[in-house]
Amino acid sequence: MKMVAPPLKLSAQECRFLAERAFAFAGVQIDPRNQDFFQLRVSRRLRMLGMDNFDDYMSLLESDGTGNETRCLTEALTTHTTSFFRECHQYEWLQKEGLQRLSASGAGFERPLVVWSAACSTGAELWSAAMILEDAARARGGLRKYQLIGTDISRPVLKKAAGATYKEIEIDGLGDAHRCRYLMRSTTATDLEKRPYYRIVPELRQHAEFKWANLSNLSGFQDCAADVVFLRNVLIYFSEEVQQRALNGVIDRMRQGGILMTGHAEVVSPRPYLRMIRPSIYEKV
Ligand SMILES: C[S@@+](CC[C@H](N)C(=O)[O-])C[C@H]1O[C@@H](n2cnc3c(N)ncnc32)[C@H](O)[C@@H]1O
Repeated sequence: MKMVAPPLKLSAQECRFLAERAFAFAGVQIDPRNQDFFQLRVSRRLRMLGMDNFDDYMSLLESDGTGNETRCLTEALTTHTTSFFRECHQYEWLQKEGLQRLSASGAGFERPLVVWSAACSTGAELWSAAMILEDAARARGGLRKYQLIGTDISRPVLKKAAGATYKEIEIDGLGDAHRCRYLMRSTTATDLEKRPYYRIVPELRQHAEFKWANLSNLSGFQDCAADVVFLRNVLIYFSEEVQQRALNGVIDRMRQGGILMTGHAEVVSPRPYLRMIRPSIYEKV
């Protein structure tokens, strides 16, 4: 039987050091008192590097001129939980009301309607929106053009989002109609229990691009004019200052009349150029 090494023990000071590194890189606040969390996540990273003590890892971080290991550390410490049709009332609103409202400005007809998932994780958020848009495109007189952009600070999740391939358990939130229309069953790949993987169909994939970007300092942000932005379940991890910077940077990249979706636990302080349509759905005015 293969023995799994116990997680390394980290001191309070070491956890503080790691938390400061992640904050400086990504703006995420992780409570350094949560020692078990740090031990678990950092031990996993050390195993990947083939290291067996934390002192060597500290030295690696301290001599990390390229910032590459700080990036990997942050990837190991951030949370990537996501699912298809999470907070589904937002997608329902988009389908029933939002798309029609946006089409008044020509979005989807004279020009592509642009949807941006600004902390996209493994892609479920953007692909869910894609299904709503493609449903509309297939309806008579519906949407003609759309573009999907996913950004995140973590490269492994971006790779998975672009690959658009999921296990059965990851597509839990999908109804039968969307499964039939927009997923293809992999003929070769299976999980450990021999259940097949599912891939988003090419008709949706052809509209999407996934890129690295950092919301905390707005690096990697492209000049886009988004019609719909999903900025969900990421602001909660930021300090107040980083939240405001990220929000302002995102809103700057939205069209007037564009729609911002946030997580239900995220508070957006009032702004003269943002009108709440309903909880967690805002319009840029
Ligand atoms: C909990 S997931 C949310 C995923 C999705 N938005 C949703 O609500 O289902 C948070 C995501 O934010 C990303 N993230 C954390 N800090 C970030 C930053 N500074 N810039 C961009 N993405 C960041 C993480 O890598 C992670 O994929």
